[in-house]
Amino acid sequence: MNELRMPVVAGNWKMNPSRSAEAVGLAVSVRDGVAGLPARSVICPPTIWLAAVSAAVGGGSREPGGIGVGAQTMRAEEAGAYTGETSPVMVAEAAQYVILGHSERRQYDNETDAGVAAKVASAAAHGLVPIACVGELAEERRAGLTAAVIERQLRAAISLLPRIAGTSLVIAYEPVWAIGTCDAASGEDAQAAAAQIRAILAESDPTGADEVPILYGGSCTPDNAAEFFAEPDIDGALVGGASLNAESFTRIVQLAVDAHG
Ligand code: PGA
Repeated sequence: MNELRMPVVAGNWKMNPSRSAEAVGLAVSVRDGVAGLPARSVICPPTIWLAAVSAAVGGGSREPGGIGVGAQTMRAEEAGAYTGETSPVMVAEAAQYVILGHSERRQYDNETDAGVAAKVASAAAHGLVPIACVGELAEERRAGLTAAVIERQLRAAISLLPRIAGTSLVIAYEPVWAIGTCDAASGEDAQAAAAQIRAILAESDPTGADEVPILYGGSCTPDNAAEFFAEPDIDGALVGGASLNAESFTRIVQLAVDAHG
C-alpha cells in the first residue's frame, strides 16, 4: 500500500440482507466499527435500501473515518423511460459511490464494456465516485488472457472520462474465478494486475494515475487481506461475503489502516 493514497475498503452487499431493518442494523454496526479509522470505508447495499441506509448513517461521507454509501449499479442516463432503473441523480441523493461493471452484472445483465464506459463517465459527471470493476474469467486465465482482458476492460471503462486526475475514480481488480469461491488470488498475482492497471492509467494521465485507489476483490477476508494490502499498488479491497458481518468488515478496514503505516 502506498502511503500517499488513503485506503478504500468497500463492502458489496449484493442482494443482501433481505429486510430493510437488517440492512439498517448492519449499516449502523459498520459505521460504529470503522468510526475514526483513517480509511475510506464504504457500504453498498441493494438499491432499494439505499435511502434507509443512508439516513441511518447520517447521509454518508467520503471523508476518512466516516462511512460512505454506494450503489451497486445505476443507469448512465440522467432521465428517461427505463423501467426498473435508477439514474445517477437518484443515486447521488443517497450515495457518494457506485460500483460499476461488476462481473455479476456483466454475466447476468449483459453489461458491456461500452455500457460500463458510459456509466463511469456519467457517475463522475454527477459527482459520484465510480468503483469500476475489471477481471478475467477462469477460462480466460487458463488461456493466458488475464492481462489482455484487464487491458480491454480498463481502457473501455476510462474511455469516456475527460481526465483521470480529480475524477476520484476507483478501480477494483476482481478475478471472476475468485469471487465467492474462497479461492482468492495470491498477493503477487493481484499486485501484477494492479501494477498493469496503474501503468495503463498513467499512459493517459501520469499524475492522475497515482491518485487512483486500486482495490483487490474476490474472497477477501480478515485472514487474507493483509497479504493484498502489503502490495505497493493495492490500496484496499472490494469485499463481498465478508462485508455482511460488521466485525469482519471492520477487521479488514483495520488491516488496511495498519498496512498504510
Ligand atoms: P466475495 O465477493 O468477497 O464474496 O468473493 C466480492 C465481490 O463480488 O465484489
